[in-house]
Amino acid sequence: MTDNQTTTFKIWASAMQSRTEQVLGHLLPSEEIVPQRLHQAMRYAVLGGGKRVRALLAHAAGELCGADLHKIDVAAAAVELIHAYSLVHDDMPCMDDDDLRRGKPSCHKQYDDATALLVGDALQTLAFQILAQKDFCQHPRLQLEMVHLLAVASGSRGMAGGQAIDLASVGYNLDQSELELMHIHKTGALIRAAALLGAYCADDKEAELDLDRIKAIDHYAQNIGLAFQVVDDILDAEADTETLGKTAGKDAQGNKPTYVTILGLGRAKQLALDLHENALRPLAVYGQEARRLIELADFITQRSF
Ligand code: IPE
Ligand code: IPE
Ligand code: MG
Ligand code: MG
Ligand code: MG
Repeated sequence: MTDNQTTTFKIWASAMQSRTEQVLGHLLPSEEIVPQRLHQAMRYAVLGGGKRVRALLAHAAGELCGADLHKIDVAAAAVELIHAYSLVHDDMPCMDDDDLRRGKPSCHKQYDDATALLVGDALQTLAFQILAQKDFCQHPRLQLEMVHLLAVASGSRGMAGGQAIDLASVGYNLDQSELELMHIHKTGALIRAAALLGAYCADDKEAELDLDRIKAIDHYAQNIGLAFQVVDDILDAEADTETLGKTAGKDAQGNKPTYVTILGLGRAKQLALDLHENALRPLAVYGQEARRLIELADFITQRSF
């Protein structure tokens, strides 16, 4: 990327992050509404932190398909709500037992375990509530498909299933294909859903969705989703707690199989680069139209936190 491209990407990303923050702030129940403590904890877990990579992916994919910005806002928020719920539960003592998230005490540390459990439950249902809202989409069948897509990506065949494999793998030497299966589920599924939901938001502009673009986005998202978790594993081993905003070295401490334990740092980094290259292949025909997705792939693989 040239310096100029980096600057325009940073401006775009920061604008989309602010949008996402604002939309989420509106969608989450106010702290004054009963039960106040639960609502306060939900807002604590979602607002004021996070890279918002999934929201950015929804916006970048939506942009490539010509989707309406306000509609992408809702899809992006739905995925960020599921993601925030997954982090709240991931940090609980019964899972990774991590006290720090996004530079603050994890939700169960700031509140308590029962509240964190309910925060996760309530964020998850809020995600589906906003996707199912009747003014969200003009085509009920497509809207149902979007709800279905997010449900599969979040459930036992997606993120929750991946988390189950993660917990069952503690102390085991997985081979690369087993590790890939775990990462595709726990992280890749939601990242793929983010990009596809953004693309599906284009339905109001065109009579029919551009299936070639959606196929290219799907290929991109599957590769970049896996790359995302490969980089997360690398950062866990290499970065410091302050930069990460979560406890560094947690995977080794928890005896988790990761790309670093299986391949070593050098080969794990090479794999992230290969996945990045592979992700971009089908986007080449779209040239500048796909620039945000391309820039995001760079960001995902080169990030330091
Ligand atoms: C962390 O995700 C958990 C994984 C799925 C690897 P992010 O790195 O996207 O976390 P935030 O949203 O920026 O805090
Ligand atoms: C968590 O993976 C993935 C989900 C939350 C679904 P990690 O356990 O590696 O995430 P971090 O490193 O705690 O953010
Ligand atoms: Mg975990
Ligand atoms: Mg964790
Ligand atoms: Mg991690």
